[in-house]
Amino acid sequence: MLIFESVSALQQHLQENSNKSIGFVPTMGALHKGHLSLIDASQQKCELTVCSIFVNPTQFNKQEDLEKYPRNIEQDLKLLEQKKCDVVFLPTVEEMYDNYTFQEFDFGSLGNVMEGEHRPGHFNGVANVIQRFFEIINPTYAFFGEKDFQQLAIVKALVKQISSPTKIIGCPILREETGLAMSSRNERLNSSDRNEAQLIYKLLSDVKQKYLTCSVADMKNYFAENLTKTKKFELEYFDIADGNTLQPIADWSQSNYCVAFTAVNVGNVRLIDNITIFN
Ligand code: PAF
Repeated sequence: MLIFESVSALQQHLQENSNKSIGFVPTMGALHKGHLSLIDASQQKCELTVCSIFVNPTQFNKQEDLEKYPRNIEQDLKLLEQKKCDVVFLPTVEEMYDNYTFQEFDFGSLGNVMEGEHRPGHFNGVANVIQRFFEIINPTYAFFGEKDFQQLAIVKALVKQISSPTKIIGCPILREETGLAMSSRNERLNSSDRNEAQLIYKLLSDVKQKYLTCSVADMKNYFAENLTKTKKFELEYFDIADGNTLQPIADWSQSNYCVAFTAVNVGNVRLIDNITIFN
């Protein structure tokens, strides 16, 4: 496994391997099995896999969240080594952005709802870092988890906007045994909160099971009422939306690809999750 900290050294290596298809897995570190499944997907499809570890400051709308974001570089490198990942890119903020002009992207209605509404500037930060990575690496394929469903939609829109040849692949959510979606942020939960956080997926699963006999409004009430019975959970949003446009629906007949999305604060740890209700 080769580790590069500079853009020029990484590009030199990729140049020497220009006959190979490149799979790219961008991460912010604190790797878990969900990330490793993206590495697997890349290794199955591509001849050379590049994983980046970069806690991107421009996508955090709260300084505290950036400071508290879990960092565990030694363990991350061990896991990537075990996976036989070909290349790890570990840039500093200066290395990433010194020669880069920040852009204002507009993703229209895709970017105004849910995460876009609740985390102003977040998707612009994500779009800029992905554009910068693609400029450096020019991957054949890039792999993103479906836990960040809206991010995946935004990245697909981004490649169209910037006419990037990179193909975007979404990979299924991995869950802990309790059902809690795997996330680097789970590490910040104490063990009792981590256990109780399984309620999020339980309620999402209930919605999927009940939808045929209940209205969209009933399901929204059901989720909110049951989640907030546990005092330490604060519901930021629960939305039922079309999986392509991400626009909320008021009636099941308004979509043939329907997804439920939520963001929940457990203490000061913000968790997101989603479930496809039907497609
Ligand atoms: O999903 C993440 O971890 C980040 O948003 C990403 C895609 C690595 C960009 O910084």
